[in-house]
Amino acid sequence: MMYAPELDDHVLPATVRSPLLESQLGVAEAWLVDCTGFGTGTFKDLEAAVVIAGAREMGLTRISVHSTGNTALSYRQFAVRAGLPCACYVPRQNADKLGDITADPAYPVFLVDTSFPKVAKVAKDAAARDGRHHLAPVGWKLEGKASLAWWLYETAPQVDLIVQTVAGGYGPLGYETGFRRLSRAVDHPHGILKNRRYLLFQPADADTLTRAWQAGHRTLAEEELNLPDDPFEPTLQSTNPVATLPLLRQQMPDGTVFRAVTPVAVEEARPLADKVLAEAGIALDYERERSAYISLAGLLTSKLERTTKLAFIVSGSRPFQHRESADAWHVLLP
Ligand SMILES: Cc1ncc(COP(=O)(O)O)c(C=O)c1O
Repeated sequence: MMYAPELDDHVLPATVRSPLLESQLGVAEAWLVDCTGFGTGTFKDLEAAVVIAGAREMGLTRISVHSTGNTALSYRQFAVRAGLPCACYVPRQNADKLGDITADPAYPVFLVDTSFPKVAKVAKDAAARDGRHHLAPVGWKLEGKASLAWWLYETAPQVDLIVQTVAGGYGPLGYETGFRRLSRAVDHPHGILKNRRYLLFQPADADTLTRAWQAGHRTLAEEELNLPDDPFEPTLQSTNPVATLPLLRQQMPDGTVFRAVTPVAVEEARPLADKVLAEAGIALDYERERSAYISLAGLLTSKLERTTKLAFIVSGSRPFQHRESADAWHVLLP
């Protein structure tokens, strides 16, 4: 017999069916996995919960993280909850991503005033000088995201296409970690465990993985990173593809596709995207975070087979109050 769980609306993330998206795309099923209800409003909280718990378990006493914004906010929030002093390093040009955090000397946020590719090194050097264990991309990143695989298997096991906006692609790599484990753990893997592929979108001005994937490359050099000075979505600036492309090549199922979406297409699709989100009861803040809008626009301009049953990962973010919390962060000059 097919396992049919009863959905509990109060368990996050909500998996919401989207009749409007189904009719617009002409597909059999479209589900939105709403990750905006987590503490900081993005799916990075899944990762942060596991990483901070791991850091605690390993007895680390001073930690740090660098990111374009969302990961840092998530790690900070869980570090505060765990009482584990944590510094965040965020590119100065992404200060708007910091939102409504409250200043706390045990959890400083440093704005790094340098070109994006140099941010990681400046952050790591500053952390070392400050005696911090720097949680640069670690394997645990995948563990938290793996939980979304289990969640998809619980809430929509019949899905055969997973859609997400990617920067480095750690999300899909994490889901694959979860799906592989689940396949080994159940007697008769079916549905999404047997048959799935990914449709992954990137903004056209930061489409490193899309270009490399479409060109059939298996590795990437740093010079090949597409890192614009004024990106359409600053969250999606990433040097991670150098590390993740070989992993994606190894681990993504056959039929996985990457596509680039132009800013104009995102703007054009916005009214319809807003209707889809409103019907599903999901509040996204376009000004704060366009990641999910990029995939919605990409989907709305894609040709999909009628039998497709898709799950769209709404990665973030809901609106938050923008407080003038200048004393919450410091400018760090490299
Ligand atoms: C809101 C949001 N969506 C999507 C992504 C892309 O995540 P990844 O490429 O690591 O799966 C990020 C982070 O980079 C993000 O913060």
